[in-house]
Amino acid sequence: MSAERDNRPKRIATRTRVNSAPVSLLDCKREGALCSIRATSGLGGIISCWALRSFNKVDMNDQENLNPPATLKQIQQESESLGFRMSSDLLTGSLLRTLAATKPACQFLELGTGTGIATAWLLDGMDQDSQLVTVDNDDSVVSVAREYLGHDRRVAFYVEDSGLLLERFRNQQFDLIFADTWPGKYSHLEQALESLKVGGLYVIDDMLPQPNWPEGHASKASQLISVLESRSNLMITKMNWSTGVIVAARLKE
Ligand SMILES: C[S@@+](CC[C@H](N)C(=O)[O-])C[C@H]1O[C@@H](n2cnc3c(N)ncnc32)[C@H](O)[C@@H]1O
Repeated sequence: MSAERDNRPKRIATRTRVNSAPVSLLDCKREGALCSIRATSGLGGIISCWALRSFNKVDMNDQENLNPPATLKQIQQESESLGFRMSSDLLTGSLLRTLAATKPACQFLELGTGTGIATAWLLDGMDQDSQLVTVDNDDSVVSVAREYLGHDRRVAFYVEDSGLLLERFRNQQFDLIFADTWPGKYSHLEQALESLKVGGLYVIDDMLPQPNWPEGHASKASQLISVLESRSNLMITKMNWSTGVIVAARLKE
């Protein structure tokens, strides 16, 4: 038999016993091939394994099938008419909704409501026992959010400086904070992080260069990333995705 490697796509194993672990779907890379292992039975799982050569692409398009909240289109249209171009994008919205869904009966805080795009995603992920406080200092944009989301008893809108709100709410702790304005991100960071429960999530976007960034903002963003990375009470993940997202979990000290 030839010692040369046979590069033709082939089934590398038809039946394999994987301990007694209940395996539902495993993907692993083996010798440059993507190997999908599917369980075909229950306990003790007799599994089948197929090797697919790299020319077989997995079609995972992160822009597809997002299933946005029902109100999103109208809010987007109103934002467009107002000329408001600071809304979170669909990917960040989708992530926020998923994170919100991991926190039943929890307290949420959004700093920078805008016209309510991220507010809509958060509400879509939150259960009926959760509550959201959202703040913005511009009533003209908050009025759009109020119009489309104000009927939802889980959300409370505040129109004021978000730094002042953090100050006033300093005795309240949140399970998830989406810090989407200056105070709570580039200023008042300490107050925001102190308002986070242990195990709570602090989320920020727009950490990759944006067309609307003012002169000198890149160095502020880099500095913020360094500050978050250096904190021993945070576990962070930086995502070079969407507009640049960081998710930080507060650790027990
Ligand atoms: C990036 S936008 C928020 C977008 C919104 N979260 C969304 O996903 O669509 C930032 C918002 O912060 C508001 N803002 C700016 N300075 C503020 C401050 N000091 N306190 C509260 N809100 C502020 C602006 O009016 C603007 O609506």
